[in-house]
Amino acid sequence: MSLLEIRDLVVGYGPHPVLHGVNFVVEEGEVCVLLGLNGAGKSTTVNTVAGLLRPTSGQVLFDGKPLGRKAPSARVKQGISLCPEGRRVFPRLTVRQNLRLGAWSRRRSPKAIREQLNLVYDYFPRLVEREDQFAGTLSGGEQQMLAVGRALMSRPRLLLIDEASLGLSPALAKTVWEVTSRIRDDGTTVLMVEQNAGALPFADRALIMEKGTLIHTAVGEQIRNVNLREAYLGA
Ligand SMILES: Nc1ncnc2c1ncn2[C@@H]1O[C@H](COP(=O)(O)OP(=O)(O)O)[C@@H](O)[C@H]1O
Ligand SMILES: [Mg+2]
Repeated sequence: MSLLEIRDLVVGYGPHPVLHGVNFVVEEGEVCVLLGLNGAGKSTTVNTVAGLLRPTSGQVLFDGKPLGRKAPSARVKQGISLCPEGRRVFPRLTVRQNLRLGAWSRRRSPKAIREQLNLVYDYFPRLVEREDQFAGTLSGGEQQMLAVGRALMSRPRLLLIDEASLGLSPALAKTVWEVTSRIRDDGTTVLMVEQNAGALPFADRALIMEKGTLIHTAVGEQIRNVNLREAYLGA
């Protein structure tokens, strides 16, 4: 059974659908990269998985069970966490306060929260140095690390990351992608949205989306052979 299964998903913001019947799976223990140009429907896809958008039709199954109309907060409790596009950190709260808010669903287990905080600091040592700083004073790269760290604080089984590399230097983008491999190795499945094909070497599964439709899926060794010019740039 796949950890995440998307079946015939149709989603729109008005009468016209933006996703036109999307199907894919993500297996437990994978880093899956959902690649596509701006406007392809990537955020719509992960926001629907997180429960922020209601599908017109189709299903999202998590751990084999349909999520139906479950609220975002209930999905967090079930193990789905979203690091949204644009980071959305709380600028007037400190780094530590931002992280602690990510653990809201587990607020009755202070020991577990401390453990998770240490794990996040282990992934992103820069955040330790910035612990007492307001998030608004961090660099773009640091804010991105904070956003991923905050999403990890609920100890998800599935971490959704929407365009972590946007606006980062190539070196910083690589740092964030490298951490996703560690997150996976530590037991959290990752679905990350990217416009940047530089993320592909970090993927166990690659999905390529164009105009609300998946046009290509590659797993493992196949990923290296994805003809990006054809599959992604639409040549
Ligand atoms: N809140 C919204 N209202 C109306 N249309 C939207 C909204 N958000 C996204 N769209 C449209 O849906 C399509 C897919 O958007 P999105 O999922 O954000 O793409 P991506 O994340 O791949 O850049 C685009 O054509 C976009 O204009
Ligand atoms: Mg987007």
